[in-house]
Amino acid sequence: MKEQLAKIRAEALAALEEAKASADLDALRVKYLGKKGELTAVLKQMGKLSAEERPIMGQLANDVRAALESALESTSKKLEEAALELKLKAEVVDVTIPGKEVKIGHKHPMYIALDEIKDIFIGMGFTVLDGPEVELAELNFDRLNAEEGHPSRDWSDTFYFDEDSRVMLRSQTSPMQVRAMDSMELPIRIVAPGRVYRKDEVDATHSPMFHQVEGMVIDKGVTMADLKGTLNTVVEQLYGEGTKTRFRPHHFPFTEPSCEMDVQCHKCGGVGCPTCKGEGWIELLGAGMIHPRVLEMAGIDPEVYSGWAFGIGLERTAMRRFKIADLRLIFENDIRFLEQF
Ligand code: DAH
Repeated sequence: MKEQLAKIRAEALAALEEAKASADLDALRVKYLGKKGELTAVLKQMGKLSAEERPIMGQLANDVRAALESALESTSKKLEEAALELKLKAEVVDVTIPGKEVKIGHKHPMYIALDEIKDIFIGMGFTVLDGPEVELAELNFDRLNAEEGHPSRDWSDTFYFDEDSRVMLRSQTSPMQVRAMDSMELPIRIVAPGRVYRKDEVDATHSPMFHQVEGMVIDKGVTMADLKGTLNTVVEQLYGEGTKTRFRPHHFPFTEPSCEMDVQCHKCGGVGCPTCKGEGWIELLGAGMIHPRVLEMAGIDPEVYSGWAFGIGLERTAMRRFKIADLRLIFENDIRFLEQF
């Protein structure tokens, strides 16, 4: 048994010398000291020894166990240190290597145009509002005087979230008028930019998702003259002094009277060219005097208060502002395009 123990000790220590990783150490621990290990197997034979031999062998076996344990411990430490050393070497930072150039982005042309629009309106005392793109059909239509079955719902009666068509992706920013009337004190002067959704096919001037800026004023004695004066001022600030506009009659359920505002074509000065499709004018926005029923539904007395509102497409405004020919460029995020602004 003495030889057996000596052999185990010698073999185990030699194996430990060879160990390369902590997994090797675990295996050796099991092999020699584990329940079914070699040392344990020898200890199980102790019963066969005489009473004099037993304590001597017991002592010897304990010595072997202690020697193996301490060797395991020190080898494990050595391996850990070696691993750390290796890691430190691998992670050396060379502070003299030149850095990578960080490209700094800048504002998207559409947001440049939006910020200009916001600045103009803030300068005139308007508050900027933000509202939900997932909107109640009630606010997108009914409260804007387009009840179920109204023909104007047809083209924009589009992306719904439920069977009952109660919740939808808003088709216009006009529900923000209702939200403002419901939550703000009179008089009200707001603009509300945001995304809107329609079932349009993508082409050079259309996209199923685009941006609008809604605007609204409600006060005592507000007239169409205020609408024209304010919008003309905005257009001159946006496109330059002397920019000519014209107002054409139109129909929106939530305004009466309603109009569309065109700007004279910047390319041909009104003569007619491909940019304005030969018309000399380019349609810019829809507007009008808020329909008395819309005011009434919000609990505002149309005999005392009046208001005007408008909705402008942001992509098209930016296209005109920066002379961009195709709306798709605004969404494609091609760096070569974006870097030009
Ligand atoms: N919501 C209209 C549209 O999407 C635009 C519009 C027209 C907004 C007249 C208004 C308005 O506030 O008064 O075409």
